[in-house]
Amino acid sequence: MIELKSKTELEKIGESCRIVAAALKMVEEMVRPGIETREIDQRVREFIKKEDATPSFLGYRGYPASTCISINEVIVHGIPGKRRIKDGDLVSVDIGAYKNGFHGDAARTFLVGDVSDEKKRITKVVKESLERGIAAAKPYGRLSDVSAAIQKHAEKHGFSVVRDLVGHGIGRNMHEEPQVPNYGTPGNGPVLQPGMVLAVEPMINAGTFETETLEDGWTIVTADRRVSAHWENTIAITENGVAVLTVN
Ligand code: MF3
Ligand code: CO
Repeated sequence: MIELKSKTELEKIGESCRIVAAALKMVEEMVRPGIETREIDQRVREFIKKEDATPSFLGYRGYPASTCISINEVIVHGIPGKRRIKDGDLVSVDIGAYKNGFHGDAARTFLVGDVSDEKKRITKVVKESLERGIAAAKPYGRLSDVSAAIQKHAEKHGFSVVRDLVGHGIGRNMHEEPQVPNYGTPGNGPVLQPGMVLAVEPMINAGTFETETLEDGWTIVTADRRVSAHWENTIAITENGVAVLTVN
């Protein structure tokens, strides 16, 4: 069942989402050559705590950190650690915050220093794909309108859309119904009802859409080890349109 949120519930989700957006803004300044990914994670954890929230990811199914930091061929769920960011890296950072009983979830991809044209293109296209997907979301429209718009834009630019991972409803739980695929044909799936809150999160690859999970049980990489990018916002469907909640 897809839960519809009340106005007061939407305000609470909005607060968690603003914290996530502010944390990502802080991270943008930190993503520089030489920094260890665990330093970024530590700062995010402190920031979320200072905002009287808790990191959604920490302890989720045993996940050991407050962020996912996914570099180059890592699609998502990279675990922060001693690895240092270096010039030329593409770095996707995913953050969730929980406050007043509700979660917010968002991700951005950052480019570090002198990066390849392919990395520049895939980062631009993943962001645009999410924008196209959100633009296709209309109250009383259908969920797959969003999915199809994302896929169309990504594939038009020669990138592939990951199938093994999808976006999701969000609220009292980080993952709620419905699943939000980044591929599909328009006009299908659930009707987008006012009060629905969705984490829309395209993951697109330079090569194959096939994935592999590393031995740590978390890190998901492209099967061909070519580069991948991720962008995520939490959005709310309202009577008048769509509100993007994970913005400053
Ligand atoms: N934002 C991601 C998601 O929507 C990350 C959660 S995975 C976690 O699934 F284990 F790190 F929490
Ligand atoms: Co998510």
